[in-house]
Amino acid sequence: MSADPARSIPPAAPLTVDGKRLWKSLMTMAEIGATEKGGSRRLALSDLDREGRDLFCAWARHAGCTVSVDSMGNIFARRPGRRPDAAPVATGSHLDTQPTGGKFDGVYGVLAGLEVVRRLNELEIETAAPIEVVVWTNEEGARFAPSMVGSGVFAGVYDQDWAYAREDLDGLRLGDELDRIGYRGAERCGDHPIAAFFEAHIEQGPILEARQRTIGRVEGVQGMNWYDVTLTGAESHAGTTPMDRRRDAYLAAARVADRLAALAEAHGPHGVATVGQVQVFPNSRNTVPGRVAFSVDLRHPEAEVLAAMERGLHHALETVCEPVGIAREVARISAEAPIRFDPDCIAAVDGAARALGYDPVPMVSGAGHDAGFLAAVAPTAMIFAPCADGISHNEDESAEPEDLAAGASVLLNAMLARAGGSA
Ligand code: GLV
Ligand code: MN
Ligand code: MN
Repeated sequence: MSADPARSIPPAAPLTVDGKRLWKSLMTMAEIGATEKGGSRRLALSDLDREGRDLFCAWARHAGCTVSVDSMGNIFARRPGRRPDAAPVATGSHLDTQPTGGKFDGVYGVLAGLEVVRRLNELEIETAAPIEVVVWTNEEGARFAPSMVGSGVFAGVYDQDWAYAREDLDGLRLGDELDRIGYRGAERCGDHPIAAFFEAHIEQGPILEARQRTIGRVEGVQGMNWYDVTLTGAESHAGTTPMDRRRDAYLAAARVADRLAALAEAHGPHGVATVGQVQVFPNSRNTVPGRVAFSVDLRHPEAEVLAAMERGLHHALETVCEPVGIAREVARISAEAPIRFDPDCIAAVDGAARALGYDPVPMVSGAGHDAGFLAAVAPTAMIFAPCADGISHNEDESAEPEDLAAGASVLLNAMLARAGGSA
């Protein structure tokens, strides 16, 4: 019988990745921007982000991939398949980090994908569809808000020029920084068909560890809204202005932050609210602050509850600011509705996990992920591996090599099931 290009021969036994090689790659990447406390600092589109990207591209080319970069700096490393015209089965995540980030958030998903490619090479497995590993630009949103801008433009959620115009706290623009580090590519962002997308990630929460389970079968992502708030009062002398004559913008911001914590608790147990970035002007210890700019992050798995939390934010601002003569400006800069992943991709993750002997925990991600935007343009699902104490966005972020290998093995088999492969 002649070879059927669409034929998929499931391997007799599930495949496993080389966990030691994956760990070594993770530790090598973590040296770029390594912090004294053992974490990583590679802010999006910084020189260190460029170094991380360059290292990934070199590794991918060494593994036989062709590398292309789109106009948002998203990197696609392709391992060819038997059917060159078929859309790839893709995986990936991000290499940028929080200012005091860990070694695994995002990086794990990228390097687990690279390990899938390396293992397929080693086993001489040819897939029907190409396999791709993607590095999405500015997932964290720590330097340029909002988060997941590269995948957001790719999925048509954000306009590219709007994304290019995002500014960091020093007024540097995302588009200019892409040019500066040499990662504004030729391919038009979004002109890149993807047949299916899988993202492996550390859980960043406590559930898997508490339940002593290795694999999370991620079925969706909770909703997340980001806001920029500016409160304007009046600068005045810290020693001479009586308390009842002050229009202290920082005090108002602190009261709003307190109300937001109560708002999240009122929508518990899933509601969360965070004021994470605060700029106080003029930032002088003996001047009552006249202006404060701060970020607000509201999340909930249900759209209606998130909408109620947004109303709660406006109410908190009004009731705190109006009585003390503080002016307020609020802009919602991103709104990511709760996402449900594709049932077939979830089933591929479930099947791969079970074949490897794991009993995957169904879960909804509390963190945002590029997979959330990808779900709008391709069948998508995610795989979680546990991390110690659920700690993430922290230099102490920690994960066990065996758990990360297990998640990558699930990724390998799920992608293979979707891409069709044979030795
Ligand atoms: C991404 O890191 C997020 O904020 O969830
Ligand atoms: Mn991440
Ligand atoms: Mn993150």
